[in-house]
Amino acid sequence: MTTCRICRGPVREFFDFGSQPLSDAFVAPPATGPEYRYRLAVGACGECGMVQLLEEVPRERMFHAGYPYHSSGSAVMRAHFAAAARRLREAECRRPDPFVVEIGCNDGIMLRTLAADGVRHLGIDPSRGVADLAAAAGVRVRVDFFEQSTALAVRAEEGPADVIFAANTICHIPYLDSVLRGVDALLAPDGVFVFEDPYLGDVLDRSSFDQIYDEHFYLFSATSVRAVAERAGLALVDVERLPVHGGEVRYTLARAGRRQPRPAVAALIGDERRRELTGPAALDRFAANVKHNCAELTTLLHKLRDDGAHVVGYGATAKSATVTNYCGIGPGLLDAVFDSTPAKQGRLTPGVHLPVRPLAEFRDPFPDYAVLFAWNHADEIIANEREFRERGGRWIMYVPEVRVI
Ligand code: SAH
Ligand code: TMP
Ligand code: ZN
Repeated sequence: MTTCRICRGPVREFFDFGSQPLSDAFVAPPATGPEYRYRLAVGACGECGMVQLLEEVPRERMFHAGYPYHSSGSAVMRAHFAAAARRLREAECRRPDPFVVEIGCNDGIMLRTLAADGVRHLGIDPSRGVADLAAAAGVRVRVDFFEQSTALAVRAEEGPADVIFAANTICHIPYLDSVLRGVDALLAPDGVFVFEDPYLGDVLDRSSFDQIYDEHFYLFSATSVRAVAERAGLALVDVERLPVHGGEVRYTLARAGRRQPRPAVAALIGDERRRELTGPAALDRFAANVKHNCAELTTLLHKLRDDGAHVVGYGATAKSATVTNYCGIGPGLLDAVFDSTPAKQGRLTPGVHLPVRPLAEFRDPFPDYAVLFAWNHADEIIANEREFRERGGRWIMYVPEVRVI
């Protein structure tokens, strides 16, 4: 039995994907030598409810100068973060000369709006390649991992933060205790720590098992976030469900006693309790769905291959590493994966080694079928690729279930 990374309680494993490569470790061809692998298994703590991976990958292996994920590749996400920036500014930047810190600012998708508005800010991100893109967009960046020591240094150099924000980053950080001690050190007395990450409730409802991979160390719920916040002397004062990335929650933490929690907090925690979010029935159902979806997807792909159809993947997402490697979807089933990110193009996907090609080649000529690995950007991609369907092409979805559209 593993012990919880947060509270040392007992963690019950509910799915084991076996040995997996790192989800963002795209391989330069020709592939020589073995890739780094780790055991991808996930469990839920019986005490605090935190869903977590059972094995941790060293952070420098995942987040480094060559980290290939560029947040600004999606127009929907650019609009989402421009709106988030404006809202934080209006609601939380009331002091004169407010200071906003973002953990995991990536290419500056959120902070560029505040930078353009002249708000004092600092992005913190250990991946130099994406940090350079943020700097080029006018964002002040510190290339560093956020943890307690980083927070103490920033506090000493720049003073307290009115807002600490993070998106799709806090769930990446196993040393969450150190992060929260850092938040405590850096946050102004009435400041807020706002972060948004994939929501466990949505992952279970949609069987979106590909949200589970090396970088997603935690899958948060309101219950587990409140527990970890309280251990650090912070309070969960607001939750808001977000439609992006297949369903997320934005959590707002404040110092204990400084803000009245909004009714949405008790409502979501009550909902999680009633549905027994991390109870054996829910987790066993999820495990059965994962096996079922994977079998359906591979059966479909084998049939299409035997019929001579031209089938590809769309979106060389980190998520797709779990699907392709766990279900066994390699070059025998898909010809290539198309992706807009220059840092991924010309490389091979981790583990199964599907070639990653630029989007221009998706149209030249259009395939018969495309597995939408970037299903969280479905509306945007299906609209951008309207011509694919007009010419008879079909999308293959596998979340929440396998279907052809
Ligand atoms: N906020 C962006 C980026 C998410 S990708 C978005 O929502 O699209 C996660 C980012 O977190 C990467 O850029 C990675 O380099 C960064 N990261 C990982 N560990 C971190 C840490 N300890 N402190 C700060 N950033 C971290
Ligand atoms: P994400 O699901 O982790 O955000 O990754 C999305 C991936 O899909 C990323 O590699 C960029 C790629 N992508 C496209 O190729 N075309 C698009 O229109 C969008 C939105 C993303
Ligand atoms: Zn726990």
